[in-house]
Amino acid sequence: MHSSHIILGGLLLVTLLGRLDAGEYGFYLDDEEIFSKCHGTAANDIHSFLDMSNVEIDIDGASMNVSGYVTIIWDVEPTDRIAFRFELMRFKRGAWQPTIFNSLGEDFCTVMYLETEFWYRPLTSKIRQDERQCVNVKGTVIHLEMLDIFFKLTTEGNDVEGRHKTVLQFEAIDQNGVKRPNRICAEIVGELIRM
Ligand SMILES: *[C@@H]1O[C@H](CO)[C@@H](O)[C@H](O)[C@H]1NC(C)=O
Repeated sequence: MHSSHIILGGLLLVTLLGRLDAGEYGFYLDDEEIFSKCHGTAANDIHSFLDMSNVEIDIDGASMNVSGYVTIIWDVEPTDRIAFRFELMRFKRGAWQPTIFNSLGEDFCTVMYLETEFWYRPLTSKIRQDERQCVNVKGTVIHLEMLDIFFKLTTEGNDVEGRHKTVLQFEAIDQNGVKRPNRICAEIVGELIRM
C-alpha cells in the first residue's frame, strides 16, 4: 500500500456518537453550513469540492442531524493521488495555535474507508457500500442519514475548552506527479465546551 500516512499526536479527536458523557467536550459549531473558508490561502473552498445544496442540516447545541445527499464535484481525475492534512487548532492569546491533534497522509484513497482510521466509524462507515468512492471521482453521489450526531473530544488532558477549528486540506497529484492547482481548504470552526 502506498501510504506514508502518519497520525501525529496519537488518538484523534472527533468522534460522532449518540451521546456525550460527563467529562467529554462537545463541539458547538459556528456556522450552520458546517464549513467555512480558510483565511490567507489561495486554495478553493468546500464549494469546489462538494455540492451540498441537497443536504439538510439541523443543529441543536452540540448535536445535529444531517440528511440528504452530497455530490462530489472536485475537478480532478480518479487516477490522481490525493494528499490530505487535517489539523485541529486552538485560538489562544489572540492567534490560532496548532494542537497535538492532526493527521496527514499522501494517499487519502487508500485510507478513506480503513476501519482503523478515526473518521471511519463516525463518517465513512455510514456511506452505502455502492457509493463508496474516493473524493477524486467527480459526479459521485453520497447519501447521508445521520441522526443526533455530536462532534466530541475525549482527552485525558484538561483545559481544552474554548475556540477551536479543524482545518481540512486536500490536494490532487496527477499521474506525472504534478500537483493540481485546485487544492481544497475548508474549516470547521466552533467552541469546545465541557459537558
Ligand atoms: C434529530 O432527529 C431526531 C429524530 O427524528 C429528533 O428527535 C431530534 O430532535 C433531531 N435533532 C435536531 C437537532 O433536529
